[in-house]
Amino acid sequence: MCGIVGYIGPKDTLPILIEGLKRLEYRGYDSAGIALSINGEILVRKKAGKVADLVADLKKSNELPHAHLGMGHTRWATHGEPNDINAHPHVDCQGEIAVIHNGIIENYLAIKTRLKQRGHVFQSETDTEILAHLIEEIYKTKKDLFAAVRLALREVRGTYGLVVLSSHEPDKLIAARMGSPLILGLGDGEGFVAADAAAIIAHTRQVVYLNDGEVAEVTARGFETKTIYDVSIDKAIEEITFDLSQIERGGYEHFMMKEIHEQPETIRNAMRGRLLVEEGNVRLGGLDHVRDKLLGARRVIIIGCGTSWHAGLVGEYMLEHIAKVPTEVEYASEFRYRSPVITNNDVVFLISQSGETADTLAALREAKAKGATVLGIVNVVGSSIARESQGGVYVHAGPEIGVASTKAFTSQLTTLALITLMIAREKGMKKEEAVVLTRELDAIPGKVSQIFTNVEPIRALAREFRDSKNFLFLGRGANFPVALEGALKLKEISYIHAEGYPAAEMKHGPIALIDEKMPVVFVVPKDSIYEKVISNIQEVRARKGRIIAIANEDDHEINSMADYVIRVPRTYGFFGPILNVIPLQLLAYYMAVERGCNVDQPRNLAKSVTVE
Ligand code: G6P
Repeated sequence: MCGIVGYIGPKDTLPILIEGLKRLEYRGYDSAGIALSINGEILVRKKAGKVADLVADLKKSNELPHAHLGMGHTRWATHGEPNDINAHPHVDCQGEIAVIHNGIIENYLAIKTRLKQRGHVFQSETDTEILAHLIEEIYKTKKDLFAAVRLALREVRGTYGLVVLSSHEPDKLIAARMGSPLILGLGDGEGFVAADAAAIIAHTRQVVYLNDGEVAEVTARGFETKTIYDVSIDKAIEEITFDLSQIERGGYEHFMMKEIHEQPETIRNAMRGRLLVEEGNVRLGGLDHVRDKLLGARRVIIIGCGTSWHAGLVGEYMLEHIAKVPTEVEYASEFRYRSPVITNNDVVFLISQSGETADTLAALREAKAKGATVLGIVNVVGSSIARESQGGVYVHAGPEIGVASTKAFTSQLTTLALITLMIAREKGMKKEEAVVLTRELDAIPGKVSQIFTNVEPIRALAREFRDSKNFLFLGRGANFPVALEGALKLKEISYIHAEGYPAAEMKHGPIALIDEKMPVVFVVPKDSIYEKVISNIQEVRARKGRIIAIANEDDHEINSMADYVIRVPRTYGFFGPILNVIPLQLLAYYMAVERGCNVDQPRNLAKSVTVE
């Protein structure tokens, strides 16, 4: 969601802010703005649309001012439509204090009313603007920006990652966090603030992760951190683990395509040092200290949102079938408000690519408060969910920039397979049986590469169906979540309405939609329920639906039943989703390209959803 970048130091600030904002574009946004501190004044420029529109405006008006202190923001609208006025930064009445903010101030109306009565004049419909005025009000008597921000934040309820600068104190940025991630970057005689490391990795790898309730004063010489209640905090300086090349397109037209093609490598990374192929075993250091809890668990609950939730659904099939662990999967947003019955015999896995999804984080806290053991399956190292979990497993997919999650999903599935195998072995699965599975898993990256050798039929499908209004995706067993994921990918980036369904459930509703125009994608590997899915294919055929089958290479029967067949290599049934989803990622990608959609930044979507 909203992007934040701030800079103080000897370099020219505007290019650093613009570059930082561009690197944060992937988070999803609908307007952009900057504030620069210049000769004792604050210059604010903001605009609905893309960062490029803001830059074009600055160039048009011959305005590329030099400054050594400034901040930039990309806004994903919550309160007030995405227009120039509602874009951040927001300033106080005198234009002397500027604020950028990610999150929602829940009690903003009460504060706004009070401040209006005291004569403050508001320009926008946003919740954020009250922060600038509230700080202004307190600064009048306090005359200390760092202290004024802390005092102001004691009055607000809600979530924020925010940065404040003021013409009164043009040698600092104030940054604060409650629920929305914020990091400080430390350079040589310069300081940065950012919503995520991508914005500043080109300049520094030394970072400090702010925790909830912490406020930092950042100057060119260093930083100081206190809680909003004035308690000083010593913060550890950490090193960012990825490098610039990982967040660049590397010759691909879109990040999504680059990330799809990275999957042989990212799946391998998820297994590296963990999968002991010939021992038929798995080593996961992040779960060692919770081994007894995990093995003694009454049940496992997997929680996530979006694609991560789909991964959880596949995990349920794996854990129940292979490791015989009772498993439930929940949407984080439902779990947190459902008064779930949780005991300290429950183990809860939180799956999240970003590690920052607000609902998933809240579910973690809810489960932890109720005594469960909470474990993360997270991609972003050092993210909130990773830090608040009691243990867990990083999926090591590297930075994922395309909004539509691809490589993180297959890494999540691989990680779930590892966890499953580890538990199964601990619970008595025989080595010979396990070796068959560890060898299958080990062969997956090579099989993914094989899929990429023949993508032309998928591209042809996209050309054929580019004008379709609807798509149906069907699968059974562990491939039912793959159908859900295929539908989600397509609707996210090509804006075609798509539904995923368990293939047999189709006859209880979606079958009414089937006619000779309806493309129906069946995920139909040669597994134990192959014959059942074939029956469902026949039901669609009888109604003249157009059948696209994702089928195994050695499946010849399917040719006579499907209008189009996309081949994937065969593997062990419960690992099949890792392969079967790849043609669906490619189909969504090519469809979006055919339809001229913005693949990496689809409308209205955010990569990291840090509000409820
Ligand atoms: C957003 C993204 C999805 C993602 C979901 C959960 O909706 O657009 O791609 O699956 O959030 O995000 P997480 O980071 O928790 O996996």
